[in-house]
Amino acid sequence: MVNKLNAQISLENFSSNLYLQMSAWAEIKGLDGSAAFLRKQAKEELDHMHRLFKYVYETGALPAIGETKAPPTEFKSISDLFQQVLDHEKLVTGKINKLMDSALKENDHSSVDFLQWYVSEQHEEEHTIQQVLDKIRIIGESGSGVYFIDRAIGEMLRKH
Ligand SMILES: [Fe+2]
Ligand SMILES: [Fe+2]
Repeated sequence: MVNKLNAQISLENFSSNLYLQMSAWAEIKGLDGSAAFLRKQAKEELDHMHRLFKYVYETGALPAIGETKAPPTEFKSISDLFQQVLDHEKLVTGKINKLMDSALKENDHSSVDFLQWYVSEQHEEEHTIQQVLDKIRIIGESGSGVYFIDRAIGEMLRKH
């Protein structure tokens, strides 16, 4: 269980780096709303990592931060970027579900309780990113569309 939790620590760390790197792409393109949104996501992923880190040492085991690969730096478009965010969140959800499966199988009630928060969080995040992709699809990326998409994403940030 500890090894699996440690692998999740590294994955959350990668998620944070991925979203921070994505925010730089948005920043360079003048997409302030998206950049701010992604920076906030990056901070939240760091929280997810720290929460796991703390849980592991509280159980008396040693948390270990593994290697993280470098995130991509280039994206084709704003829709390409947020589609990659959704794909990544779905991957993370799969990993959380697998962790939960292991905790249940091992009758590790403490981990089941701990992981429940991540199950809810993944549901929330997938929903939020799906909302972003819906807005992109409705507004469309042609002409000044990207400007309005970015503004809508900035407004979502204020509501969250
Ligand atoms: Fe996360
Ligand atoms: Fe996430």
